[in-house]
Parts: sequence; structure tokens; C-alpha cells
Amino acid sequence: MLEWLAACLVVVMLVMIVREIFRKPANFPPGFYLFGQPVIILRDYDLIHEAFSKTEFSGREQTFVIQNRSFFMGNGIIFGQGGGWSLHRRFALQQLHDLGVGRPRSELLVQLEVDALVRRLTASGGDLEVNTTFCMSGCNALLQLVAGKRYELDDPVFAQLVNDTDRVMRLASPGNILSLLPWVRHLAPSATGFRALCALRDTTCSLFGEIVEEHRRTLNAGKPRDYVDAFLIEMEKEGAKEKDFTKQHLEILLMDFFQAGIETINSTLCWAVLLLARHPEVQARLHAELDELLGANSLRWSDRQSLPYLQATINEVHRFGTVTNVSVPHFTSFQPVVFNDYVIPRNSLILPDIYHVHHDPSYWSEPERFRPDRFIDQSGQLVHESRLLMFGTGRRSCLGESLARMEVFLFVGGLLQAFHLELPPDAPPADLSPQAGVTYKPRPFRLRFRPRRPAAPELNVAALALRSEQNSYCIKRSSFSSKVHFKEEREI
Ligand code: HEM
Repeated sequence: MLEWLAACLVVVMLVMIVREIFRKPANFPPGFYLFGQPVIILRDYDLIHEAFSKTEFSGREQTFVIQNRSFFMGNGIIFGQGGGWSLHRRFALQQLHDLGVGRPRSELLVQLEVDALVRRLTASGGDLEVNTTFCMSGCNALLQLVAGKRYELDDPVFAQLVNDTDRVMRLASPGNILSLLPWVRHLAPSATGFRALCALRDTTCSLFGEIVEEHRRTLNAGKPRDYVDAFLIEMEKEGAKEKDFTKQHLEILLMDFFQAGIETINSTLCWAVLLLARHPEVQARLHAELDELLGANSLRWSDRQSLPYLQATINEVHRFGTVTNVSVPHFTSFQPVVFNDYVIPRNSLILPDIYHVHHDPSYWSEPERFRPDRFIDQSGQLVHESRLLMFGTGRRSCLGESLARMEVFLFVGGLLQAFHLELPPDAPPADLSPQAGVTYKPRPFRLRFRPRRPAAPELNVAALALRSEQNSYCIKRSSFSSKVHFKEEREI
């Protein structure tokens, strides 16, 4: 009887799928219908560029998973839309700028994280499994700018949060069952990942809720220390509630920054070390370029113009790995849109196939080969390439792009200055097929970080000053209820 029912169910599903495939109207762009929803796939660079500069293509779908993530109240920046999204995006960009993103202060914060990571990898010795290895380091500079704090790299509670985020990112990939059929959570709350999603949301919000409370207690409205302070000051103004300047929304926004920054930087660095270990010839050229310019001094963001091969290699890592393979899906408004002779139905999901743009054989020669030289011209200079879409394009492009570019540059360069990156001879061959999830990242692999010199590169004077300031104020946490302390704001 059960088998008969299952067979009927399969037939009904097949009929539905065939119906969906053939229900496409005339002038429907490349794509398909999924349970009644139009899904459009943009694979051409010019089309993506043009579409994403328009308001009509700048929405986000408010799926059950997304709304549940924010307790069904306001959706932050990544998943928000309309006036609220635009207001909070502008506010965040302004604050990040004022807090020193793109200026010496953020560079020093990243340099200190590179130094801490190099020391930790050196001390750990031997071979490491690389998976979430760079999460904490990549996130610390950002957390200091927005929330005035950093975590020790071995903080156990934070490490747990990183692992949970990694797991949930895999569960919450586009097209997951909960977004399509939310009622399934009642039948299988664990198997669908619903329990894990709620647990991660609750833990992350409780962590950020604590930080917000601590800021509230120590706030000096005349002297905002970070993004949280600036937000709290805004909360006191007239009409703040209507504009979503509320404590709960602040927690969601902090979760946005944290989740947007943590996986993307980590996945990019995972690709970088894996590809460099697989290509010792590229690594040798990078070692030579860095040694010639810097000797034993630590790398600065301003050095990038003098390191074309390092920049080319980072571009190639972004192209080859494409951690945001279909970006964050966009959504059309309530009206059909005519675009490039196509009619895009209302409420369509728009997926930019960035992986295709980065691997299109009609544009890139040998796209499946890792070859940084494709970004170097005859005279050895870096070729400007606009077809790299790792940070998206248009109205919703990555809000953290300038910080992320600096972080990736300083981390990759800093790791190369300090180590030979090698695949251990007894390790299984490293797999280059990505694991599915919100980001594309390599499957976990083992790597040997073999020190190149007895000591880490020398930090400059400003970075050393900032580190001693951090040491005197920074928290060593062992649980969520530990106190948060601020360092004095000081212009560098
Ligand atoms: C290598 C690192 C990173 C990559 C590859 C990356 C890539 C992206 C991409 C592809 C998008 C979606 C663009 C779209 O919807 O069309 C995005 C959005 C976003 N990113 Fe990043 N990102 C990185 C790091 C960061 C960092 C460090 C932050 C922290 C501030 C950040 C914050 C955001 C936010 C808030 C959004 C949502 C923007 C919006 O919807 O208006 N990202 N990022």
C-alpha cells in the first residue's frame, strides 16, 4: 500500500515538473518555473551589469527562511528591500567610512590579525585541516570596527558559533526545501535544518544583544566609538522606530555583517592557500616578488601597486574559486518588467550565474586552469579586468568590498611571507570541486604551513602601538556572559 502511495506521489511530482517546464510564456528569458515561481538565470556579463543597475531588479525575495532569520521583523541589509534597505545601507556605508574603512586605521587592525594568525599557525606546527581556519581572523577586524571588540583566535564559544554558521550556510543554500515548502518543517524540523537555523539565529542574536547592552551602558553620545554607538544615538531621535532604528533590528544588522563577512573571506582564503599549494611555481614567484620588495618588513596595503603578480594571483583566486557563485539572489518587483526583449514576470527570482561569467570559455582562455598570468600584460603590469564579479555589481553590490579587498590582500600576502604552503605527501589528493552552500568553498583539506623564516615579519610602529592598546583593553572570553571592554578611541 505504502509503495503504491509513493509511486503515485512520484507520478504527481513528475507531472507538476513537466507542467512547470512547459508553462513558460513567450519572451520568457533563460530560466524555469519552480513550484510556480519564475526563476531567471542571467549568464551574460553585460546583461547582469545592466539588470543590476536597475531598481526593478534590486529586490530580495522574502522567503520563510529569510523572515524566520529576523524573527519576521525587518530584514536588515542583505535581505531587506525598499526604503528601509536603502536607508540602512547608506547609514552603514557612512559609518564604516567614518570608522576608518579604506584608511590606515582599518589597515592596522587587519595587520594585527595577520600577525596573530601567523603566530598561531607557526605555534600549532604540523599539518592542519583547513575549513573554517580563517573565519575568526577575517571577522575580527570587522567586529572591531562595528562593535569595538575582537576575539581570541581560540575562543571556544566563538569557535562553536563559527562551526554552526558554517553548517547552516550549507543548509541554507538557494533552493533549499524550507524556502520552497516551509510547512515541511512541521514534519521534519531537524532533517530540514529548521532547528539548526533557529538555534543559530538565537545564539547569534543573544551574543550581539549582549554587546549592544554593554554599549548602551557605556555610551557617550558625543563620542561614538563604533557602528553600534552610532546606531544607538540614532535610536534616540524622533521617528527612529518607524525607520527601524530599534535594538532588535540592530542585532539583525550585526548578524548581517558577521555572516556576510565571515564565510566569504574564509572561503576566499581557503581557495587561495589550496591553489597556491597545488601550484608551487606560482608560489615561488610570489615569494620572490614579496621578498624583493619587503625583505623582513610586514606588508602594507599601499604596497599593492608594486606587487602586480600578487594582485593578479588574488584576481585569479577570485575568478577560479568564485565563492559567491550565484551571488545573493535578486527579486523583481510586483510588476512584470520588459528587459532586453524579454518579459520578466512579476515576483521572479533572478540568479546571476557568476561562476559562468568567470569560466566562460568564449571570454577566458583555458578557464579551468589556474593561471594568474592572464591578469598580467606584456610589460609585467596588472591588467584591469572588469569582468570579475566576485563582489556583485550595481545597486546591491557588496557593502564590505573595500574592507574585503584589503583583508584578502594582506592575509594572502602575509601568509606567503611567513610560510611555504604545502600539501602533505601522505594527504589524499586535494579535491577542487567545491562543496555546495551559500558560498562555494573547497572541501576540507590538509595543509602544511612550513615557516620560511624564524620569526614573523616585523610589524610597523603604528601596528605595534595598536596591539599594546588592544592587549590592555581586549577581552579574553570563555563564555557569552563575559564582560566586554572598550579600548579608548584614538585616531591613528
Ligand atoms: C571576499 C569577501 C567578500 C565577497 C566575495 C563578497 C561578495 C558579496 C556579494 C556577491 C554580494 C551580493 C551582491 C548582490 O546581491 O548582487 C555581497 C553583499 C553584501 N556583502 Fe559582501 N562579500 C565579501 C565580504 C564582505 C564583508 C567583509 C562584508 C562586511 C561588511 C560584506 C557585507 C555585505 C553586505 C552587507 C551585503 C549586502 C548588500 C546589499 O544587499 O545591499 N561582504 N557580498
